[in-house]
Amino acid sequence: MAQHEVVEKNINLMAILIAVVISVAGLVEILPLIFQNQVSEPSEGIVPYPPLQLAGRDVYVREGCYGCHSQQVRPFISETERYGPYSVAGESVYDRPFQWGSKRTGPDLARVGGRYTDEWHRVHLLNPRDLVPESNMPGYPWLVRNTIEPGMVVRKMQKLQAIGDPYTDEQIQNAVAEVQGKTEMDALIAYLQGLGRTRTGR
Ligand code: HEC
Repeated sequence: MAQHEVVEKNINLMAILIAVVISVAGLVEILPLIFQNQVSEPSEGIVPYPPLQLAGRDVYVREGCYGCHSQQVRPFISETERYGPYSVAGESVYDRPFQWGSKRTGPDLARVGGRYTDEWHRVHLLNPRDLVPESNMPGYPWLVRNTIEPGMVVRKMQKLQAIGDPYTDEQIQNAVAEVQGKTEMDALIAYLQGLGRTRTGR
């Protein structure tokens, strides 16, 4: 009792003790995340995005698809029955920034790869209502008019390699040929078709 009164009546001591408590609590939360491989090491089968998918991912981010679509299957039966295996941190290590999202005006896309044909996506992205009459998703017709700039993709891969993504020099050299002449639509579809494929083992 008396000891506690000392703390209560001395604002400086109290401030120091509060700082100590918050620091310890903070470390307890943060340190395991830094040292746990689970969140920084890729899950089995997860590799950096191939060039065309990498370009498509940037289209996805630029167009703000995350505003209506999450990419995170939560560990509940209702989710896994609908979308497939729940998401784990090791799947997103090459995602900068990650696209987990939380807004679901449309369905989660973490496992959409392979669910539809490329042609389905092409028609859907041009005008979703041609396939789903009640859809309120906007169309993205300009994606078929814009082409991918190969030099930009190469520079992105070089930067990602510099910060530790395991791209080989050969992969970077081949990138130009892989994206040459492709449209943003091709890239976005390649990205969507790659989502979640490795995790489900398809
Ligand atoms: C205004 C909200 C909104 C935005 C923005 C949006 N979508 Fe959608 N999306 C929806 C809705 C609603 C559906 C469900 C109806 C349908 O299939 O069109 C959907 C469905 C989809 C589907 C089919 C998913 C499935 O499992 O059936 C894909 C793929 C998709 N969207 C991709 C995208 C991409 C890529 C972008 C960005 C270029 C995007 N969406 C932007 C609302 C949105």
